[in-house]
Amino acid sequence: MHSGFLPGNNGLKTASFFSPVQEGLQEVEALLRSQSVGAHPELGAALEHLISAGGKRFRPALGLLTGQMLGGSHQKLVTLAAAVELLHTATLVHDDLIDGALLRRGNPTLNVQWSPPATVLTGDYIFARAAKLAADTDHLPLMKLYAETLAVIVNGELTQLFTARGLTSRENYYKRIYAKTGSLIELTTRAAAMISRVDGTVVESMRSYGYNLGMAFQIVDDVLDFTGEQEEVGKPVGSDLLQGLVTLPAIYYAEAHPDDPDVICLTSGCYSEHERMERLVQTVRKSSGVKRSLEEAQGYIQKALQLLAGMPDSVECQALHDLACYTVTRKI
Ligand code: IPE
Ligand code: IPE
Ligand code: MG
Ligand code: MG
Repeated sequence: MHSGFLPGNNGLKTASFFSPVQEGLQEVEALLRSQSVGAHPELGAALEHLISAGGKRFRPALGLLTGQMLGGSHQKLVTLAAAVELLHTATLVHDDLIDGALLRRGNPTLNVQWSPPATVLTGDYIFARAAKLAADTDHLPLMKLYAETLAVIVNGELTQLFTARGLTSRENYYKRIYAKTGSLIELTTRAAAMISRVDGTVVESMRSYGYNLGMAFQIVDDVLDFTGEQEEVGKPVGSDLLQGLVTLPAIYYAEAHPDDPDVICLTSGCYSEHERMERLVQTVRKSSGVKRSLEEAQGYIQKALQLLAGMPDSVECQALHDLACYTVTRKI
């Protein structure tokens, strides 16, 4: 299988906010790689391909930083971080099949090379390995939270599939981004705090930190779909509107220009008119919708930063601060 990957997509490993958890991240990497042991050779090769392609490892770093700041067991935190990253990876395998995406983390997706049945089953296998890792933390409430979150993600993907095309409702948008991204990032910080056995108010603050971070993360992801470079983000850009998926920059544009014929076309279900949608992507890219969306992401980050104020003064807390700031300036 093709194994070259983008340097940009792995660039975060040298970011200063990852340095307090460098060691833990390497252990997470080893744990992720060990998941192919015992699998069918083809499946093993696919897992190897997926893991070695990297990704930012944003969620593992976040979990490790949170737990380490709060004095949690190192081993359990590494296990949790690997569980979260694997769950994320499995959702991407299925998502790329659903979206017909050909590129992820700078590499061809599994569905380029494999049939849908093989791709679905690979995703299922990764879900199973992720659940096993989550269970290895020996923490029943965490396991329940994990299962609930997976249900939220899947329900969100299905809702988007059935009802979200051409929808310019902001209310619907926030529900969608919570389901697809906010919920897992929220789980990461919440579960890391739960493992660390700190009191309920700290768990709640870190849950809320993760929630706000996750919402900002997805808004920026949606902005990058308009403004990003495919070579940097490692996945196709400009594709949301072409699939009829209206994200925040386009929602702001549509609200401000309800009479634009391309907007009317989008909201009346004709998003399959490719030329119009291509033009609308260019229009939105140049519009103030981009700036407004980034300001909104910044608002979520401000809330996240406020929640860190009550946390132990530490290198990890500083890193969580920097990680939050990075979320709105990121290009990958
Ligand atoms: C991509 O997540 C999918 C979203 C939920 C936005 P990331 O941007 O964290 O992807 P990787 O793991 O770095 O590839
Ligand atoms: C990915 O959703 C999020 C999940 C897998 C739940 P999207 O389809 O919006 O994200 P990208 O752009 O492919 O990463
Ligand atoms: Mg996708
Ligand atoms: Mg999708």
